[in-house]
Amino acid sequence: MRILITGGSGFIGSLLCRTLSPRFEVTGTFLRHAPGGPPPVRWRRLDVLDPASVERLFREVAPDAVIHCAGVKRVPLFGKNRDLPRRVNGGATELLGFQAGRFNPRCLFVYLSSVSVYGPGHPERSLREEDPCRPAGMSGTSKLEGERSLRSLVERGMLQNVLVLRLAPCYDRTWTRNLERRILLPGGFSYVRYGSGEQRMSALSRDNVADWMEFVLAGRDRFGGFQVYNLCDERPYSFNEMIRIFRESGRKTPCPDLSVPPGLLHRFYALAKAWPREGRVSLRSYAEKICRDMVYAGEKMLGTGFRPVHSLETVLR
Ligand SMILES: NC(=O)c1ccc[n+]([C@@H]2O[C@H](COP(=O)([O-])OP(=O)(O)OC[C@H]3O[C@@H](n4cnc5c(N)ncnc54)[C@H](OP(=O)(O)O)[C@@H]3O)[C@@H](O)[C@H]2O)c1
Repeated sequence: MRILITGGSGFIGSLLCRTLSPRFEVTGTFLRHAPGGPPPVRWRRLDVLDPASVERLFREVAPDAVIHCAGVKRVPLFGKNRDLPRRVNGGATELLGFQAGRFNPRCLFVYLSSVSVYGPGHPERSLREEDPCRPAGMSGTSKLEGERSLRSLVERGMLQNVLVLRLAPCYDRTWTRNLERRILLPGGFSYVRYGSGEQRMSALSRDNVADWMEFVLAGRDRFGGFQVYNLCDERPYSFNEMIRIFRESGRKTPCPDLSVPPGLLHRFYALAKAWPREGRVSLRSYAEKICRDMVYAGEKMLGTGFRPVHSLETVLR
């Protein structure tokens, strides 16, 4: 099976290239960071915003599966590149899906989307795939555009098989910034407990993403049509639990706990919700991240028979 992994130089794509290349014919792409390392991965430079080179690559590889990991996670606040996430996560995803279907209509197109498509202000329960998406920031909006354009390609018969993965914030042993934001002060000088610290969040070990992709490719006939899955570790983590696991892992030199009293936290949340338009999106999104549960239902993923065996405990210890 020929697999094309875009964003093969990135955090997730690099692991997928390593994991899948011993058993599949893998072509990985990069933009600015040419990966070193030996074959068997065939490396190609690709700018997904360049339609001619996208077409050339699909003509050359005609992949049986595409794992589209190339994306822009950080949104530039100023300057002419403010719409970059839209062009890369949205527009270019449509182009890649179109070319995938053009050169191999039965191609399985896997799109790494994000739980940010659900947006803020969600109910006090875990969010399921069929829940409405109301992203507030550019990141979630552009990812949702990518999802919608792929759905439209399937509806128009230009692509038959699309698997959208809404990833919870990822981590691995060497990269935990997504989690540290919730439990450490900026600079990492101190753990911080917001309110009771019992807020919970879904997170996703990068190793579980690789296991999931192996699971999908082993039974790819089950993933026909247009399907969407939340991808997260088997259970969410409370902030208190994360602090405990971080402490026990010895990753940080011992440092004190600061506590933010619940009253102060609630006032901050109310203020963030009422903030004037310009600053509201990022402030509210930050407030949601530290004040409330952000849990995504993994039942649909578990219903496939897949078990995410990696967790904060197994990865960080
Ligand atoms: N990591 C997470 O916590 C998380 C959570 C939810 C969703 N996701 C999604 O999962 C995907 C992969 O995430 P990641 O953490 O691996 O991201 P990452 O480490 O930032 O990697 C992004 C990749 O995209 C490539 N890229 C960026 N712009 C490109 C362009 N114009 N043309 C071609 N390639 C381009 C980069 O290439 P170079 O580095 O070579 O320039 C890099 O390989 C992203 O779409 C992200 O939105 C990630």
